[in-house]
Amino acid sequence: MPDMNKDIDNKELFRMAVAAEKNSYAPFSNFHVGAALLSVDGRVFTGVNVENSSLGATICAERTACTKAVSEGVREFTKIAISGNGGEAWPCGICRQFLYEFAPNLRVITGVDEDHLQDKSLSEILLDGFRVESFE
Ligand code: THU
Repeated sequence: MPDMNKDIDNKELFRMAVAAEKNSYAPFSNFHVGAALLSVDGRVFTGVNVENSSLGATICAERTACTKAVSEGVREFTKIAISGNGGEAWPCGICRQFLYEFAPNLRVITGVDEDHLQDKSLSEILLDGFRVESFE
């Protein structure tokens, strides 16, 4: 059970995602995505999409945020807020699976603006996510 003292409310986390968008590198799609991933210990890891001329080498904001956290030794998360061009952006299938590895019960928050946020469980939006328990 996450320590609720370490919680950040959905609106504030979404604002952090929107603020992160300024560093998005998206010259090909012009869809600037920001993510703010909250760890159980109350730290926020932001991420942006980083596109590439090859297109296929592009990385999404959610995986950038998660990779930053894991590389800093943080693996337990409670929620993630995501924005695209200041509005709604649900994680792609690859990102859902990537996040599922660490936090199957993660809350996923996005919306058209901070006053209309949706809050869903990752397990709800990724049915039967894949996990190899024997790696633990
Ligand atoms: N994108 C994300 O950053 N996160 C998602 O979950 C959906 C897609 C990015 C990838 C690409 O740079 C742009 O949005 C358009 O697909």
